[in-house]
Amino acid sequence: MLTNRNKNTGLSVRPLSGHIGAEVEGLDAAHLDQEGFSTLKALFLEYQVLILRNQVLTRDQHIALGKHFGELHIHPMAKAPEGYPEIFPIEADANSSNDPKAIRSGKRAVNGGHWHSDVSCDEEPPLGSLLYLREVPARGGDTLFSSGYAAYEALSPALQRFLEGLTAVHSGEATYRLHYGNQAAKDRSQFGFNNGATYPEAIHPVVRTHPETGRKSLFVNRGFTREIVELGHAESQALLAFLYQHQEAPEWTVRLNWTPNSLAIWDNRCTQHRAIFDYAGQARRGERVTIKGDRPFFASALPTIEWGLAG
Ligand SMILES: [Fe+2]
Repeated sequence: MLTNRNKNTGLSVRPLSGHIGAEVEGLDAAHLDQEGFSTLKALFLEYQVLILRNQVLTRDQHIALGKHFGELHIHPMAKAPEGYPEIFPIEADANSSNDPKAIRSGKRAVNGGHWHSDVSCDEEPPLGSLLYLREVPARGGDTLFSSGYAAYEALSPALQRFLEGLTAVHSGEATYRLHYGNQAAKDRSQFGFNNGATYPEAIHPVVRTHPETGRKSLFVNRGFTREIVELGHAESQALLAFLYQHQEAPEWTVRLNWTPNSLAIWDNRCTQHRAIFDYAGQARRGERVTIKGDRPFFASALPTIEWGLAG
């Protein structure tokens, strides 16, 4: 039986949909010992996104929890609070919008208002994110998450085989130009794009193998994926349009409803998400800590030992 030794409140796990998401009670995110973290990590790997409510987390405790998962990621563009480079602020207020035209005219862009996996334009996209929202709208402001595992597994074997040979370009340009204008990245050489590009860009497999679970997941998203390298332009656009639509089906998504002081933790390697902007005029504030990930791979694309010996 999994328990949290710190508070002895008893662990309760409530799955939120058929394939993805769970609400966890009985874990105090600010004071997890190693056993408590092991419990959290196992649930994270199984459910892909977790929500823990009524958490009291200082910025340092938030960062410390993130470091249990691994080294922290520093966003290539976003402004961090003084002294906390690993904090990604989430800030929507009465002047916020999700409409590109309004944003170009001076409205503040809301974060994550379209389907994406976080910073998939990095060569090594984040492993996962921990978003702590202190202030949420009286209603609205939910976040949708989709399981890349379930979406992949629902495809026909023929299409699965076809996709497994493909790679796609992920670019930060469209999103980051809108959010950050022509502001230069903090230090491009730190983010794997010291190649003359203004915004980060990377090529990833369309189907990736999760390095911890070994499960295969679709890994393309509207926010960052631009084209499939091996296909013609029209073929690429048509296939991506189908994959986006497929991944957004309600059968493998979950809708997280936030309450003040909720902490959501998601695995960015096998999910994508969309923050629903249906709360114009209200505030939604918090902070995200993001964990560094590794380079996505597809298992059968890796050379085996036998090939290495033969070569
Ligand atoms: Fe996001």
